[in-house]
Amino acid sequence: MQSNEIRSRFLKFFEERGHKIVPSSSLLPENDPSVLFTTAGMQQFKPYYTAPQNAQKDFDSKNTTSSQKCVRTSDIDEVGDKTHLSFFEMLGNFSFGGYGKKEAITFAYDFITKELGLTISYVTYYEGAGFIPADEKSKKIWEEIGVKDVRKDGSDVFWGPTGDSGPCGPTTEIYCKNASGEDVEIWNIVFNEYFCDGSREKFDKGEANLTKLETFGVDTGMGFERLLMTENKKDSIYETDLFEQVMSLIKEKAKNYNEKSARVVADHLRSALFMVSDNSIPGNKGSGYITRRLIRRAVVKASGLGLSDDVFGGILDKFVEKYKDIYPKVNNDIVRQEIKKEISKFKESLEQGIKEFNKDTDPFILATTYGFPIELTEELANEKGLKINREDFDKKMVEHQKLSKTASVGMFKGGLLNDNEKTIKLHTAHHLLLAGLQATINQNIKQKGSNINEERLRIDFLCDHKLTDEEKKKIEDWVNDKIKAKLNVVHKEMSLVDAQKIGAQMEFGAKYKDNVSVYFIEDDKGNQISKEFCAGPHVKNTSELASVFDPDGNPKGNFKIIKEEAVASGVRRIKAVLL
Ligand code: SER
Repeated sequence: MQSNEIRSRFLKFFEERGHKIVPSSSLLPENDPSVLFTTAGMQQFKPYYTAPQNAQKDFDSKNTTSSQKCVRTSDIDEVGDKTHLSFFEMLGNFSFGGYGKKEAITFAYDFITKELGLTISYVTYYEGAGFIPADEKSKKIWEEIGVKDVRKDGSDVFWGPTGDSGPCGPTTEIYCKNASGEDVEIWNIVFNEYFCDGSREKFDKGEANLTKLETFGVDTGMGFERLLMTENKKDSIYETDLFEQVMSLIKEKAKNYNEKSARVVADHLRSALFMVSDNSIPGNKGSGYITRRLIRRAVVKASGLGLSDDVFGGILDKFVEKYKDIYPKVNNDIVRQEIKKEISKFKESLEQGIKEFNKDTDPFILATTYGFPIELTEELANEKGLKINREDFDKKMVEHQKLSKTASVGMFKGGLLNDNEKTIKLHTAHHLLLAGLQATINQNIKQKGSNINEERLRIDFLCDHKLTDEEKKKIEDWVNDKIKAKLNVVHKEMSLVDAQKIGAQMEFGAKYKDNVSVYFIEDDKGNQISKEFCAGPHVKNTSELASVFDPDGNPKGNFKIIKEEAVASGVRRIKAVLL
């Protein structure tokens, strides 16, 4: 059976048994701000377990069924094996006082064995703990139905709650064999008998309380892709019709094929497609950061496979084709563009970033300058048998965020390249301006202070006179020439001694550590027109500062001084913008 048929047979099976079919909710949960993504089918139904009377009102039934889009970030590292996915669909049936254990178990048994003709390998039931009794009732029901292998299990088969609090309870799980004879968990039937007033973490630590729910609830979840794999007698989810075409495309185009990397590329791009279509746009925070991480990890794996850029579009198109009738939101050019935009942003710095990584560059620089999510750097380090000092990274990141709030250093609200695009451009313009002042006014001009926000840059510098209009024009022309000249911005880390030897600019009066980060602006021949002590981030090429281009695509100069004034005796201040 193909994916579409299994999905609709499931929904129909439960519709025929008194369940209302409810469409999947968004991947971004609407009624539970304490979780980033929807991780289970029950999430959209969470409020009904404590207020079951509303189910009848809202669904005209006490029972519902759905195929829910889910993302589980805890499984990201396992993606690439036969069964783990970062995005998956969950088939489920739910009841808010409509039926009990007997019906729930019988429905599941009938669907698996009669509707799909599969054999159940074994089932589990909860062994009990503290005041929660063992689920002997479920055990008995399974045995009466005729399942021979019924196993007692521990806390793994007590489910929930999701988020900060919510319904939870014992579960009974169904295992079937995949094509290689391995047992795979395919269905989880939760009996929501309790309400937990804290998170699962707190509950496990004994810091949350359980109370008995007034109404008995049922919440089942069956991983759709795993079911499909099992029903199709395939060895892995990537061999099912959902992935088949994408996997062959990757195989065909890869220069160095590797099954695991290919699976990661396929999985992550499929997840990104669904996430972006639900408005989780690649970014620095919250769910957007996960989308970004997945896309960037896919890009790194794709580059290892030797895939060219056009393959990304092909992969996305194949997924869109597969899903557009079920989840029409994925079929949207804007969604594809957002993903491609994120891919190309990252590609710009990927090669250099990998080089820097191989030079053991600080993960903080990799994140802020090259856009490498820390988790990606950690993974790359793991592959080389190295360990990243996460504590040091987190500390620097916090420091970075603090600094961004102070006037003297700047400007970067933490995180990855391109989120503060305007500020980053102005930062590079700031370096050009200092070099321009030295080149056109006086070689010995020193920086005394700086400040950059999204609108303008500000530099304070030591200078003995008020700049004339002519001098200001000269400086502007000098900087604009450098924008037009498309100069590379290159980052190096070196010892303070070496940096001083080569005459890198440092702020007058500032203190530096033994190892420093230096940014160079140089032409193709390596002639340096600017070298400054700086933590970054910067653009990769001065042409990125331009917003206007001539018909041949060459950047036009857009740097403009808007103010020049005195701030103290012998100290002048310039404010400038990029038009
Ligand atoms: N909530 C349970 C799970 O996610 C059953 O749907 O496994």
